[in-house]
Amino acid sequence: MHVALLANLKKNAPNLSGVLADRWDDLDSEETIQSITRALESAGHQVTFLEGDVTLYDHIRQVNPDICFNICEGHHGDSREAQVPALLEMLRIPYTGSQVLTLALALDKPMTKRVLTYHGLPTPDFQVFERPDEPLEPTMHFPLFVKPSREGTGMGISAESIVHDEEQLRVQLRRILARYDQPVLVERFIEGREVTVGVLGNLVTPVAWRIPEDEEAPRVSRGLHFFPLLEVDMGAYPEEEAGVYTSRIKVELAHDFHYLCPAPLREDKVAELNWLAAAVFRVTGCLDVARVDFRLDAHDGDKPYILELNPLPGLNPGYSDLCVEAVADGWTYEALINEILNLAAERYGLI
Ligand SMILES: Nc1ncnc2c1ncn2[C@@H]1O[C@H](COP(=O)(O)OP(=O)(O)O)[C@@H](O)[C@H]1O
Ligand SMILES: [Mg+2]
Repeated sequence: MHVALLANLKKNAPNLSGVLADRWDDLDSEETIQSITRALESAGHQVTFLEGDVTLYDHIRQVNPDICFNICEGHHGDSREAQVPALLEMLRIPYTGSQVLTLALALDKPMTKRVLTYHGLPTPDFQVFERPDEPLEPTMHFPLFVKPSREGTGMGISAESIVHDEEQLRVQLRRILARYDQPVLVERFIEGREVTVGVLGNLVTPVAWRIPEDEEAPRVSRGLHFFPLLEVDMGAYPEEEAGVYTSRIKVELAHDFHYLCPAPLREDKVAELNWLAAAVFRVTGCLDVARVDFRLDAHDGDKPYILELNPLPGLNPGYSDLCVEAVADGWTYEALINEILNLAAERYGLI
């Protein structure tokens, strides 16, 4: 097939005056693009890279691919991860991965949490602040965790994200509001281990975006493959990161990351986490691939809490969680990339 690889390269990011140093941290490196290209080519596909910006509308019509491998994170606005899929749907061009609604939802952490809560899925209690002086709800107890509502890749996350009292809370609220100009998500701080579940596949249709009535049955995850769980080995990082997966760890220390994969967890805990990941995949309408991040509450028997859904998980062969998980499962990087493509191609009836 002729595959258009659509991404936003860090080096092509808009050169805006006054943007924050971390503004483009979630965009992709040339190394990732070259690796995906080689992987697709190794399966006999012709690959054309296109930058997923305003030039895409013209370029994609010239290239006229059979399908797109989409990993665009976007540049501007709260719909940024959903813009390319929306364009492709308008042009009726098939693409890999989740669609507009899922991508727009997942970028908004509070809205995602509302959907999870509606379905009875565990996510830390939370409150959203639009102003730094809004009163804290009486149900919210310190320590709390403060983060931007609509960022990724650890943006705005540091040891100071953990706040222990009103004063620290207000300082951090002011800081994040000023810096990211968006509502701030305050959550109960979950102290404990951090694990992520990589999911590949598609639910067997027809699929309503709800948990089946017989929720103990395997039906919730039929059609999905779970990779071995990856645990971020927080103990291996500098103490000043305070056991949090900070921006510094994700960006500056990305190539030197410490993980345990498969995570040393009991079989029943793995089954519980996989079930929850499948439920998240289902209620948010994911397609082909996703990663769900959890924290296990050390003070409550490692009870899992869903931190967030990543429907566009990083695909750097060297250090992205999903790629590490696939390798731990005996897959090659080439197999992972081509399986994502094939899952999408199958949905569109191309293979
Ligand atoms: N409620 C919380 N309790 C404890 N740690 C948290 C909480 N929320 C986030 N974190 C820490 O911050 C990191 C980044 O948060 P996350 O919401 O996953 O944002 P990102 O999109 O940047 O990955 C997590 O991996 C975890 O280490
Ligand atoms: Mg995360």
